[in-house]
Amino acid sequence: MSKIGENSKSRRVATSDDLEVSAYLELAEQKLGQTVRSDQTDVLRQEAIVVLDYGSQYSRLIARRIREANVYCEIHPHDVTVDRLSHLDIKGFILSGGPGSVYDADAADLESHILDKKVPILGICYGMQLLAHSLGGKVAPTPVREYGHAVLHQDAPGHPLFQDLPNSLPVWMSHGDQVLELPQGFQPMAYTGNSPIAVMGNNTGIIGLQFHPEVVHTPAGKQIISNFLHHICGCKGNWTPTNFVSDTVGNIQSQVADGRVICALSGGVDSAVTAALIHRAVGSQLTCIFVDNGLLRREEADRVVATFRKGMGLNLIHADASSRFLRALTGVVDPEEKRRIIGETFIRVFEDEADQLGSVDFLAQGTLYPDVIESSPRETNAAAKIKSHHNVGGLPEKMRLVLVEPLRYLFKDEVRKVGLELGLPREMIDRQPFPGPGLAIRVLGEVTDEKLEILRECDWIVMDEIKSANLYNELWQSFAVLTDARSVGVMGDSRTYGYAAAVRAITSEDAMTADWARLPYEVLAKISSRIVNEVSQVNRVVYDITSKPPGTIEWE
Ligand code: XMP
Repeated sequence: MSKIGENSKSRRVATSDDLEVSAYLELAEQKLGQTVRSDQTDVLRQEAIVVLDYGSQYSRLIARRIREANVYCEIHPHDVTVDRLSHLDIKGFILSGGPGSVYDADAADLESHILDKKVPILGICYGMQLLAHSLGGKVAPTPVREYGHAVLHQDAPGHPLFQDLPNSLPVWMSHGDQVLELPQGFQPMAYTGNSPIAVMGNNTGIIGLQFHPEVVHTPAGKQIISNFLHHICGCKGNWTPTNFVSDTVGNIQSQVADGRVICALSGGVDSAVTAALIHRAVGSQLTCIFVDNGLLRREEADRVVATFRKGMGLNLIHADASSRFLRALTGVVDPEEKRRIIGETFIRVFEDEADQLGSVDFLAQGTLYPDVIESSPRETNAAAKIKSHHNVGGLPEKMRLVLVEPLRYLFKDEVRKVGLELGLPREMIDRQPFPGPGLAIRVLGEVTDEKLEILRECDWIVMDEIKSANLYNELWQSFAVLTDARSVGVMGDSRTYGYAAAVRAITSEDAMTADWARLPYEVLAKISSRIVNEVSQVNRVVYDITSKPPGTIEWE
């Protein structure tokens, strides 16, 4: 099997039709402000690590590593107040790196309540320098900024931080300042060629690392973080999908009691897992509304119905609103206008269906942790971006709903693990992201029934061949686009004049940037020949070789 993209395992973080659906509902709620975000700090009176964000691009990666070690953690701004952390049983802090220097006029400080807590602290890069500086050591600029690989040599063999690790290990550095003199009570624990004090520690579990253990270029980094969590902070490691499911089911039961819950199901991972969790907790008190906009791939709607209604026995309303959406889209060619109309129509269909249910108390949403992190930069927030595309009307005032958001503590990978734990089919869990406006933004120009059907046929072939070549899980997204261009061709003895279809296959980490996939020629050849042979209205196939930026993933 050819390797298309590096790190293809850590893919698909955000952006899906689920986000789209959440965004529609959230916008609609905000319009009248009638939903209530319930206080859900209930959950987690359990062992936790707090990651204090000093502006590092890696704060989320640190959090992911902690979670991978089965320890719950939250990311908070470095100046978080003690009250904001009161819901957690804090076992330790990790201070992230950051772009600044401790000598900058506006340097971010270490809040006194962090030290007062008297639990272990791990400072990474800026975090280490800040610890040294705050506790009376000396930090100074390095003669040469150190960036990239280095070899770390231990000075403190046998220390629990280095348990099960060799005396020398490759690490990844990125710093302009370094610790020159240790604060009182600290020992040097390791050095590199350029950093005489690359690791420092004292006997109360305060440790500084000059290198970045969270990045893949520090191969032993995961083990170092795990050692800190388990052997220094004394974490038990009880953050597992099984425990999450049982705790969350209990929490949902107490939140919902005998109330009724509705959930918009899109077929994407987040809403599927949300529905499955709530169904496990309150069974028939949950009704899911699947708004079928007629802009889905072939067999998609049937699959959703089969999985949830037949497979799980869930109360599912399949609202087939295809013609309503198509009518609303008649004559519309502007991509943003398409999105706006789809969002608005979604809300109206959802509301019509919910209306028929009588009184409902709760609205379930598949909000994920990256959408609620306070320090999250807004521009990288996929949900915010999707919302910016829309301007949808509010839900009716009588629908005063309380939100149930059982996934708001989870990263995307954790949602997948929980989904598997709940018995959802792997193909639903590993599904590539699919945009909420669906095929409407892949049919260029006006959306018609005929063009949608042509696109579905092309898309089916692309999917089929990508899956047969075992490439589906290596790609962030792969799909067909029906361009509005027609071209001349020849078939047998006759001239043809048909559509040009485009194939798009990309690799990406997070959809913010993407590269076109170097698909093997034989796969491209097969896709092309099948499309022109099997889809009569298409006589030309092109492969999109544009990266993002400057292109976008979707064509509209
Ligand atoms: P672009 O085309 O902006 O896409 O590079 C980035 C990611 O977002 C998805 N996408 C959308 N998802 N509603 C969605 O739910 C939208 O309006 C929308 N537009 C793009 C796209 O499929 C890719 O994963």
